[in-house]
Amino acid sequence: MSPPEPSVPLILPANADSVARAGRLLRAGQLVGLPTETVYGLAGDATSDRAVAAIFAAKDRPAFNPLIVHVAEAAEARRLVEFDSRAEALAARFWPGPLTLVLPRRAACGVSLLCSAGLDTLAVRLPAHRVAQAVIRAAERPLAAPSANPSGWVSPTTAQHVAAGLGTNVALVIDGGPCGVGVESTVLDLTGPSPVLLRPGGAPEEEIEAAIGKLARPPAEAGRVKSPGMLASHYAPHLPLRIGAREVEPDEALLAFGSDVPKGARMTLNLSPSGDVMEAAQRLFDYLRRLDASGARGIAAMPVPERGLGRAINDRLRRAAAPR
Ligand code: TXA
Ligand code: MG
Repeated sequence: MSPPEPSVPLILPANADSVARAGRLLRAGQLVGLPTETVYGLAGDATSDRAVAAIFAAKDRPAFNPLIVHVAEAAEARRLVEFDSRAEALAARFWPGPLTLVLPRRAACGVSLLCSAGLDTLAVRLPAHRVAQAVIRAAERPLAAPSANPSGWVSPTTAQHVAAGLGTNVALVIDGGPCGVGVESTVLDLTGPSPVLLRPGGAPEEEIEAAIGKLARPPAEAGRVKSPGMLASHYAPHLPLRIGAREVEPDEALLAFGSDVPKGARMTLNLSPSGDVMEAAQRLFDYLRRLDASGARGIAAMPVPERGLGRAINDRLRRAAAPR
C-alpha cells in the first residue's frame, strides 16, 4: 500500500531559492501560493489555459468569475490591455499597489481567454509586495492570481491560511509573513464613460476620486452581475455573522472595533481598540477565521466607520453576513 498523500503543501520562507523554485513551478504550469500586500494569491501562468483551468478547479470557482492578471511592470500591463488617460493617471498614482484596473483586452495579449471568463475585458494589477514582484519576474510571464481560498470563503492573509484552505491543490506556498493591507485590491472598471467601482478595497475610494473624479456604482441589472466577485454571499466564515452589533447575544463570539466593547462574548477579538481602520483591515480575515473556530453559535461584528479602508471592511462583512 502506498502512503497517504500529504494534505499540506510545501511552505517555504521567501528568499532567492524559493522564488526561483516558484518561477520554475509556474513555468511548468503548476500553482503557487503567493504573498501580496493585500491577501495571498493562488498564482498560475496567465498565458496557459491548463494552468488557469487548474486555478478554477483548485478554488472550486465558478467559471463565469474572471481572474486578475498580475504584472511586475506597468509596461507589461499596457501590452495586455488598452490604457486610456484615466488608467495612466491611476497607474502613476497607485501602482505598485492595491488597485486593479479592468480595461479592454488586446486581442494578441497572449493571456488565456479563461482569465476573462467570456468578457472582452481583462483585470490587471501591479502588486506592491516585493516577493510577488520577484515571483512574477522569475516566472517570466503574467500571473493569474485570485485570492488563495476556496471560492466564497474568507480570504487568506498568511501562508498557513492558504495551506489550511487549499491543501495540496497548491504545489508550493511562499511565506512572506502576514499581509500588510489585509483586504483585497480595489477593482475599478474603466471600460465605460465613467469609472465604476466594482469592489471597494485596499486603495481608498476617496483617494481614487481625488485622482480621477467621481466613481459610479455598478448598475444593479437584474440577473446579471458585472463583477461576479460582487455576488451577495462571499468572504463568508462557517458560522453565521451578524453585523452592526452593539451588544452580544448568548453564546456569540465578538469581532470588536474601538474602545467601547460590550462584555459577555464567548471570545472577543478587537480589530482596533484605538479605532484605526488600517489596523482593522490588516486583522480582519485572521480574526474572522479565529472566531469561526471558537465554538460559538455565531459571530457578532461591531460597526466599523464607513471611511478609507473601513469601506472595504464593511463590504466584506456585509457579504459574509448575506444569506447563503
Ligand atoms: O488583492 C487582490 O485583488 C487579490 C490578490 C491576490 O491580488 N486577488 C483577488 O482576486 O482578490 P479575486 O479573484 O479573489 O477577486 C478578483 C475580483 C473578482 O471580484 C472578479 O469578479 C473581479 O475581480 N474581476 C476580475 N476580472 C474582471 C473583469 N474582467 N471584469 C470585471 N471584474 C473582474
Ligand atoms: Mg477572492
